[in-house]
Amino acid sequence: MVADLAALIAELRSILGKLEVALGSIDTGVVWTDSKGRVQWCNRGFDRITGRAHIEILGIGLEGFLPLSRDGRLVPPEAHPLRLIMTTGVMEREAYQLKRGDEVLSLEIEGSRFHLSEREEAAILLVQDVTERARSLERERELAQSAALSEQKRLAELERAQLAALNVMEDLELRHKEIETREKKLQETMAMLVQAEKLQSVGRLAAGVAHEVKNPLSVIRMGADFLAKRIGEGDPDARQVIEDISDAVRKADTVIRGILDFSSLSAVSLKQDDLHAVLEASISLVRHELERLRVKVVRNIAKEPLLALMDRNRVQHVLVNLILNASHAMGVGGTLTVRAYTQKIGNAGAGKGRREGDRFKAGETLAVLEIDDTGPGIPEEHLSKIFDPFFTTKKTGQGTGLGLSIAKNIMDMHGGELNISNRRGGGVRATLIFKT
Ligand SMILES: Nc1ncnc2c1ncn2[C@@H]1O[C@H](COP(=O)(O)OP(=O)(O)OP(=O)(O)O)[C@@H](O)[C@H]1O
Ligand SMILES: [Mg+2]
Repeated sequence: MVADLAALIAELRSILGKLEVALGSIDTGVVWTDSKGRVQWCNRGFDRITGRAHIEILGIGLEGFLPLSRDGRLVPPEAHPLRLIMTTGVMEREAYQLKRGDEVLSLEIEGSRFHLSEREEAAILLVQDVTERARSLERERELAQSAALSEQKRLAELERAQLAALNVMEDLELRHKEIETREKKLQETMAMLVQAEKLQSVGRLAAGVAHEVKNPLSVIRMGADFLAKRIGEGDPDARQVIEDISDAVRKADTVIRGILDFSSLSAVSLKQDDLHAVLEASISLVRHELERLRVKVVRNIAKEPLLALMDRNRVQHVLVNLILNASHAMGVGGTLTVRAYTQKIGNAGAGKGRREGDRFKAGETLAVLEIDDTGPGIPEEHLSKIFDPFFTTKKTGQGTGLGLSIAKNIMDMHGGELNISNRRGGGVRATLIFKT
């Protein structure tokens, strides 16, 4: 019997030993306490977590040496897992922290209450050290954060680089535009030079031809006059032919004189003269034409003389041309409004977009004469051509197309300006600017 019992005890011991070894080898800490929380047994896993040998803690109250905290705050005695287990019977896995020396362990604790006998209750707690896991999670989070941060940095850098590239592109575009503008200006200047060159040679050629033709023309005219006198009233048919010849000669003569005017543009002799008087003289010269076309002339002119530097005859030539242009454009019954005034040139930029910078100096006083008509205006596509020699929209034989090119040249030689533009209200405004 005793031997049986001894054998039984020995067997039990061996089973318990194996159980202890098995429980001891798992990482999870297992602790068994009585109803008061005194440690009855624990495995090596629990020792590892508390850092104390289980022999030391047997019989000691668990709450005392397992001070837990949650979210950085100490867990009060009534909320200690052990109490919860003893009051509620079971506790699902919860996260806690345990301060051990200098380090803080992250623990996951679960447990349940059980009856040893009818009157005796006990608790078993499973404590898992998840510090490493939490740390590696934290590391992962940190890594992810720093990866996100460096990605952010990279994006910001990319954005900066993009911005810089954009700036460079804008700069390039600007420069490109600048170059284009310069190129255009250069082309314009070259075109102007070519045009001037052409004008000069055309002028020389025309002048040569005009001289050659001038004398034969006067011979023809004198011949026609002579024949007209000879025939008298006798032969109406012959008289008509002679009149036709004279008419043709007159027209040819006008063209020739225009060409000669155009090509002998040298030498203007400038002196101070009254612009009002020259204007009146010019109007007077064309008064028959003005009367024929019933043109009303409105003068917005002061009584006192308006002195300007000019070659009187040449300016008269210009004015006659402009007045006739306006009258012919208006047809019958138009109104011609002439205005004359002085203007002081301000600093650069002042004065209705004229190229004062080129021609007139700041502080200079100019005499301005404006001739407005109530005609149809000049079609946009003609505006750039009206100063070209021989550009005319008049019927063949009615205009040489030299009027405005001569007028412009004359004004250029005065160091002044001739501008022709469409008025907003309709009609054309010719503006003459003289130095005073
Ligand atoms: N006031 C104006 N209104 C409308 N068109 C005008 C006016 N002035 C000039 N033009 C246009 O400009 C063209 C050129 O004028 P320009 O004085 O050089 O020659 P023209 O008048 O045709 O010939 P010419 O001067 O020999 O009589 C005219 O044919 C006309 O088409
Ligand atoms: Mg004309």
